[in-house]
Order: sequence, then C-alpha cells, then structure tokens
Amino acid sequence: MRSPRSVRGADVAGKRVLVRADLNVPLDEGRVADDTRIRASLPTLQLLLDGGSAEVRVCSHLGRPKTDEDRVKYSMSPVRERLRELLPDDRLTVLENTRFDPRETKNDPAYARELADGCDLYVNDAFGSAHRAHASTEAVAHVLPAYAGLLLERELEMLGKLLEEDVGRPFVLISGGAKVEDKLGVLRNLGTRADVVLIGGKMAEQLRKENPLDFDVVLPVDQIAASDFAEDAETKVTPYDALPDGWLGLDIGPETRRRFTADIARAATVFWNGPMGVFEWPRFAEGTRAIAEAVARNEEAFTVVGGADSIYALTEMGFVDRVDWASTGGGAALELLEGKELPGVAAIPSA
Ligand code: 3PG
Ligand code: MG
Repeated sequence: MRSPRSVRGADVAGKRVLVRADLNVPLDEGRVADDTRIRASLPTLQLLLDGGSAEVRVCSHLGRPKTDEDRVKYSMSPVRERLRELLPDDRLTVLENTRFDPRETKNDPAYARELADGCDLYVNDAFGSAHRAHASTEAVAHVLPAYAGLLLERELEMLGKLLEEDVGRPFVLISGGAKVEDKLGVLRNLGTRADVVLIGGKMAEQLRKENPLDFDVVLPVDQIAASDFAEDAETKVTPYDALPDGWLGLDIGPETRRRFTADIARAATVFWNGPMGVFEWPRFAEGTRAIAEAVARNEEAFTVVGGADSIYALTEMGFVDRVDWASTGGGAALELLEGKELPGVAAIPSA
C-alpha cells in the first residue's frame, strides 16, 4: 500500500491549517452519544497546536442532511462543544457541517476553495470518510498542500494487516448495520478474501429477499420479532423466514447468536462492521452484544472492529479495549479491504 505523506513532516509553525476530521458521531437527542471519533481526532490537532499553528480549522460532515429540519438535527454545535471541552485552545475552530452545502458531495472545486480560503495547508485525518470523493476530502487536497493526519496513517497501517498475504485463517467477516446499498457493492468484492461471511441487521433482510452475491454468506436462522418499531414493543423469537405480517425483525435470534459466535470463536482473523439489530434499545441488543463479546473473547485472533455504531456498541458493552483495532471507519474500512485506494488517501501526495 502506498503511504501518503505525513503531517509529522510538515512545517506548521505560524501556519493556518485546514483539518478534515471524521466527526460524524452517533447523536442522541442533540447530544454526542459516543465521542470516540472526536477523541481519535485529538492527537493530530494537538500535534498541530504544539507545532505552533496559528489556526487549526476543523471541518467534518455529520449525518446525511437532506431537509431544512436536518440543518438543526445535524448542526455541528454539540460536536464543537465536546471538542472544545476535550481540547480547549482558542486557535481551534470548528466549521459547520460540510454537507449543509450541496457542493460538498459533488466534490466541487469551488467549495473546496472556500473551505481552504486563508489556509496554508490541509491535513486529512478523516479515515472514516476517505472512501468519499467529496470537496472536503478530495478536491481540497488539490487546492492546498495536503498531508495525512496521524489517525489516517494508523488506520491504514492496522487495516493493512488484514490485506497481507499471510493473514491468519479462517478469516471471518461479520457485516450488519444500515447503509445496505453502500455495503452490498463492497461485499461483492470481499467474498474471496474472507473464508466465512456472517450477515445480520438490515443487510440480512435485503440478502434474504435477493442475493446478488456469487459466494455463500451465512444468514440468520431466527430473529427477535417486534410488533412495531418501539423500545417496548411486544416481541417474540421467530424463524428468520417466518416474520408475522406487520412485524419487524429488530435483532438476530438466539440460535443465530450461537452459530455466529461459534464461527467467531474459531477464527484467526476477524473483521466486524455494523450492529446486528437496534442495539440502542436493550431488548434488541443481545445479538450485537453476543458478537461483541465473542470478538473480544477470541484473544488468539487478530480482531478489527470498524464503524461508528459498532465501536459505540463495543464501548457501551465494555469490550473496546479487548480488540486489536477499533477502526473509526466502517464503509471506509470495508472499501480498503477490497484492496482499493480510497479517494481521500489517493489525493494526498506520496511520502
Ligand atoms: C461513516 O460514518 O461511515 C462516515 O462518517 C461516512 O459517512 P457517510 O456514509 O454518510 O458518507
Ligand atoms: Mg459507515
């Protein structure tokens, strides 16, 4: 894998630096529910401040805002506040959600120039967004001298181990969560790399309806069915193909937990991305908990967990220190596993 040039080699004294971080964190009623991604961004920001930067201007997207109400829901304010608590320094500023401007996702050079305005260099530390060719991750790297941040570098190093020829086998890949469309395409290319592919969450529903993959995946055999989408809904365990009319499958069932965790226990390499159900609600968290625990307990294996929700679950459940690498990237990690160079990384000159 090509190494992008590092911020460690940049002369930042007196410079104004634009930093793209991935501060796309899970929110709960307007608060930061899990600040892992914010904390993971601190070392680079600290390095720049210690190096004497005159200004460190941080930008990120948050969620996928579409409507006018979303401009309130996905305002950067709670994130900005949390970042200021963790790193109080007047030289640090946090811009508003980059996706509030429609030019962001179009990778528009004019928007990139606006973001860069008044800055001397650009540091991309947003590994979690490096699979997006957006103005703040890609176009801007052609406007200012671009460098890789410390988190981005470390992610490439750790996830790179999963791509090595002599990766330990069996290699078990577990995928769940939302963003099904994003992940399906990626999974298509991963079938050959992993020996066992376990699928839960929304993705399993989709694959059960229609499986466009040309390799075998292990789908749930049972589920926790809920009478409606509510924390206190009526629930029952049903076979995976026998969801009562009008009911929703909100978690994998006990037999699926047993099968999935048995595969994880035998693995020499594990990559897990995406929860198995609506883990934010305790009654639908058992599937995700079982996966988190099985990954944590397999101490012999090289274990990597990726994605904001999976890391949130792992942290809540107390297992985050027991995996080899908790990646801040979900989709980005999956795309890297395909062996692709990510656009946000490709745009940074080589070391
Ligand atoms: C993520 O959480 O996966 C990243 O922040 C990217 O978000 P996106 O899938 O909305 O581009
Ligand atoms: Mg993702």
